[in-house]
Amino acid sequence: MEDWSARQYLKFEDERTRPPRDLLAQVPLQRPHRVVDLGCGPGNSTELLVERYPDSQVYGLDSSPDMLRKARERLPDCKFIEADIATWRPQPGTDLIFGNAVMQWLPDHPAIMRGFLEAMPAGGVLAIQMPDNTREPALRFQRQVAASGPWADNPEVKAAARDDLPSPEAYYDLLRPACTHLDIWHTVYNHVMASPQAITEWFKGSSLQPFLSPLDSVAREKFLAAYTAKIVGAYKPRYDGKVLLRFPRLFILAVR
Ligand SMILES: C[S@@+](CC[C@H](N)C(=O)[O-])C[C@H]1O[C@@H](n2cnc3c(N)ncnc32)[C@H](O)[C@@H]1O
Repeated sequence: MEDWSARQYLKFEDERTRPPRDLLAQVPLQRPHRVVDLGCGPGNSTELLVERYPDSQVYGLDSSPDMLRKARERLPDCKFIEADIATWRPQPGTDLIFGNAVMQWLPDHPAIMRGFLEAMPAGGVLAIQMPDNTREPALRFQRQVAASGPWADNPEVKAAARDDLPSPEAYYDLLRPACTHLDIWHTVYNHVMASPQAITEWFKGSSLQPFLSPLDSVAREKFLAAYTAKIVGAYKPRYDGKVLLRFPRLFILAVR
C-alpha cells in the first residue's frame, strides 16, 4: 500500500478520534507499565493514551513515514517507531496493546491478535477497534467502480478491497482460550458530513487509498468522479443539506 496521507486523514480528526476514545474508556488498567499504539497514524490515538497514562511508557508504531512525521510533531516527547505489525512482537512487560482502525488491514489479524495475547503478562489488555463497514454502500461503491473502469484489470486495484471481518463468534472462539475476560461489541456511528462529496474526502484518507495509489493522476480523478456520482445518488441530504455517513465498527477488549 502506498504511504498514507496524514493531512487527508486529519480532515476528519474529531470523528476519527471518537472510536479510540470509546475503546479506551473500556480499558480497565489504572497504571500500565508499557503501552503501545499500533497503527498510531498521526498520533491522535497516541495522544489519548498519553493523556490517560502520563506515568506509563507510551509509544506509537506505524509503517508510514508520513504518519510518523506528523505524530512526532504532535507529541515530541513520545517515542515512535517505524515497523510492520505483521512482523512486530511485543516487548516483555507490554501490558496494553491498543490498535484503533488498523488491524483490518492485516488479513491474518485474528491469528496475530491471538499471538499478541499469548505474549502478554497476566492482566495485560489487548484493545482493538476495526471498521466493520464493508457491506455499507460507501464501500460497495468502491468495489463496483474498481470492477467497471479502465483500471479493472490492474492487479493492485483488483486486490485493493478489504475482506469482510470475521464474525464476533469467530473472534470469540479464537481469543477466549487466551483470555480471562473478553468483551466484543459493535457501535454504529452516524457521522454528520457537510455534503455527499465529503464522504469521498473521508474515504480518500482511508479505504480508497489502495484503489487510488496504483493509478496515475488522470485515472484517479476519473475513479473519484465515478465514485462520487454513486455516493451522491445514495447518500441523500438531510433538511439542512448535510448527509449522515453510517459507520459500523467492531470493538474487541481482551484481558490476558
Ligand atoms: C486509519 S489509520 C489509524 C490512525 C489512528 N490509530 C487513529 O486512531 O485514528 C491506520 C494506520 O495504520 C497504519 N498501518 C496500516 N497497516 C500497517 C501495518 N501493517 N503496520 C503498521 N502500521 C500500519 C497506517 O499507516 C495508518 O497510519
